[in-house]
Amino acid sequence: MHAGRERRYIEKLNMNTEISGFPGLSGCIIEVFRNTETTYVRKITRDMIYAPRLKKQAQKQREFFLKNSLPYLLIPEIIREDEGYDYYSFEMPYYRSKNYIEFFQNATRSDIDSIVNKLIEFVEYNLAESSPTEITKEKLLDKYYDVQKKTSENSIIDIEVKEDIFRQSDSIFSVLEDSMSIPVGYCHGDLTFSNILFNKDKKEIVLLDWLDTFIETPLQDIVKLRQDSKYYWSLNLYQSSFDRTKMLLVMEYVDKKIDTYFAKHSFYNDYYRVFQLLNFLRILPYAKKESTVSFLKKSIEAIISDQ
Ligand SMILES: Nc1ncnc2c1ncn2[C@@H]1O[C@H](COP(=O)(O)OP(=O)(O)OP(=O)(O)O)[C@@H](O)[C@H]1O
Ligand SMILES: [Mg+2]
Repeated sequence: MHAGRERRYIEKLNMNTEISGFPGLSGCIIEVFRNTETTYVRKITRDMIYAPRLKKQAQKQREFFLKNSLPYLLIPEIIREDEGYDYYSFEMPYYRSKNYIEFFQNATRSDIDSIVNKLIEFVEYNLAESSPTEITKEKLLDKYYDVQKKTSENSIIDIEVKEDIFRQSDSIFSVLEDSMSIPVGYCHGDLTFSNILFNKDKKEIVLLDWLDTFIETPLQDIVKLRQDSKYYWSLNLYQSSFDRTKMLLVMEYVDKKIDTYFAKHSFYNDYYRVFQLLNFLRILPYAKKESTVSFLKKSIEAIISDQ
């Protein structure tokens, strides 16, 4: 690929994360370019504190692109990376597709079953390549205290709300076993439905926005899927109108399938709840709106009271 020569022919089509309807938390910029043969996407950060994470995203995406053997899974190839003193960016092919809300709103039951089965198979594929690993209570507690500290610095959250959330969360973290056996190896890292694109012919799914996570476990991908199917995270961020009743019914159906399927794994039965709790707590430091804080608080309380 002669990326340097190509750039002379490029036409910029769009330049904002609004193309997806889901605003990302990292503030990355998404640009779509076209030349005579190809349309491609450039993901850029100008936040040099965030840049190493975006770089890791490109590394992880490349690794999975190279090792992927699931025929229905499309992982955009990293075509080129670029770096300057005040930016980092990478480029990949653009996949013309639907987001999950556009897709599920007009989906039949068999379309939904087929998507959920593909996602389950992706998690199982990673599970087969992961190994049971002892994770200490200290490791989870370190992360928990780190999140507490970062949350205390987020001034848009009332002190009482912070205290309330962490007092309730303490009850879950204080009763953790000293060591927990969890599969560690491979995962997407941020497998919410906003990072999955759907093809018109319904045969393939595209996985975007890979993320390094503090424990590379397939459990993280189940947690992220259920962040949407059980708690409607991405639905609440979506900026276009949609049939809410239909989406809630679809999500309820999807959630039940995921939960029922993974119940055969003891790591899921034993540790899903604490990982889901930690997942929502980890968003708190980055919450910029009152509505996000109250959404997180409600979800965290639901996780804690869920038996
Ligand atoms: N290769 C691609 N093909 C088609 N659309 C893409 C592609 N990459 C990104 N997009 C669109 O841009 C949206 C945002 O991309 P992405 O999920 O990578 O970033 P983000 O969620 O804004 O950022 P972050 O989660 O890192 O803060 C996607 O939901 C998708 O609609
Ligand atoms: Mg995203």
